[in-house]
Amino acid sequence: MNEIKLNGLEDTEKLGRIIGEVATASDVILLTGDLGAGKTTLTKGIALGLGIEQMVKSPTYTIVREYTTGRIPLYHMDVYRVESGADELGLDEYFEGDGLSVVEWGRMLGEELPDSYLELFIKKGLDDSERTVQFSVIGDSGKAFETRILSKRGNSNE
Ligand SMILES: Nc1ncnc2c1ncn2[C@@H]1O[C@H](COP(=O)(O)OP(=O)(O)OP(=O)(O)O)[C@@H](O)[C@H]1O
Ligand SMILES: [Mg+2]
Repeated sequence: MNEIKLNGLEDTEKLGRIIGEVATASDVILLTGDLGAGKTTLTKGIALGLGIEQMVKSPTYTIVREYTTGRIPLYHMDVYRVESGADELGLDEYFEGDGLSVVEWGRMLGEELPDSYLELFIKKGLDDSERTVQFSVIGDSGKAFETRILSKRGNSNE
């Protein structure tokens, strides 16, 4: 499993930007981590990488927020409060759509998860501003997405 260490907000924004830059239509990322781990913060970086200048707010009470001013749409979801009946939300339309879906607490979707996705586990470090991000992939397009992120990240450090 690939693991990345983030030393502060700037690193988180930078990783987010890279993700936004390499995302393609129908890519799905699940963000998994405790309250305050940095899921929404990382999503803000992803929006910047897509060229979205609008402010990204937590979609906690709306489930999905759509941003359509970037290179491809960003569908930002927070399914923390979704209990049963996730199938009725029609999230597949987003997952299979023209944009990138970023799903906070996505594991809670269980059976309603798409066939392929990238999951990022964000954990707080010892220091307040430290985070570790572990990558986990399901399916081919999730794997391809991970590969694009990691190779772009490698290149950006050269
Ligand atoms: N390196 C870092 N990466 C991300 N966030 C950081 C970092 N260092 C400090 N923080 C702070 O941690 C907090 C992360 O909050 P954020 O809303 O992104 O978490 P979340 O995982 O979305 O939480 P929730 O489960 O409530 O939606 C912010 O206040 C942010 O400024
Ligand atoms: Mg959040």
